[in-house]
Amino acid sequence: MKSFVALFTLVASAAAQDYFSVMVLRSASPIHYSTLTARGGKFYLGGAGPSSYCPPEVGDACPSGNNTVFAGGDETLSLAVVVPGGQQVYIAPDGTMAYTAPHSAYMPYGSIVDGWSKTKGENYYYLNFKDGLVGCPPTVQNQGYQVFGKIAGFNSTGCLGFSSLALNTTGVGAWEY
Ligand SMILES: *[C@@H]1O[C@H](CO)[C@@H](O)[C@H](O)[C@H]1NC(C)=O
Ligand SMILES: *[C@@H]1O[C@H](CO)[C@@H](O)[C@H](O)[C@H]1NC(C)=O
Ligand SMILES: *[C@@H]1O[C@H](CO)[C@@H](O)[C@H](O)[C@H]1NC(C)=O
Repeated sequence: MKSFVALFTLVASAAAQDYFSVMVLRSASPIHYSTLTARGGKFYLGGAGPSSYCPPEVGDACPSGNNTVFAGGDETLSLAVVVPGGQQVYIAPDGTMAYTAPHSAYMPYGSIVDGWSKTKGENYYYLNFKDGLVGCPPTVQNQGYQVFGKIAGFNSTGCLGFSSLALNTTGVGAWEY
């Protein structure tokens, strides 16, 4: 327990200035002001909250797990988690924006991990993926629009482009998503 708490404190203080959540802008659309949400290994705009897990032995020392927080965005992008090894964000070969499972670096062959950047706007930072991101309409109720990278070969018919505001947060978001 003690070592878990120490680890959490260490990780949380290491790069606090680099943590951010993402709010999406696409005026006059259902995704305007929605939150980029990690759920079940993929990303959605709105719908239910994120999926997250806190080991019982860590208990109260876990972050709340009800916000999706990112780290990096300088070429690569990660989820801001405590779990050792972290969780990397990638674009799968079919365009799915996804993240690695805890304790695993596995991603499908041909996945793209780079191409992320943050640019400064007038008042905010924006998160960008080199090929652009789109949200495609939900196929299941309360799922939210699912996010895909607009990579070559991805059919984005019916999907919406958007811009992504990176909003600083004070700490990591979850033990793991
Ligand atoms: C957000 O964090 C960045 C560094 O990642 C910093 O440059 C910027 O000033 C912060 N913005 C606010 C509003 O705190
Ligand atoms: C988020 O987590 C905190 C701490 O666990 C809890 O108090 C709060 O009610 C949660 N908020 C939502 C919207 O679930
Ligand atoms: C893309 O998807 C739309 C709608 O599902 C379909 O009508 C169209 O033929 C597809 N385009 C390509 C190039 O596959």
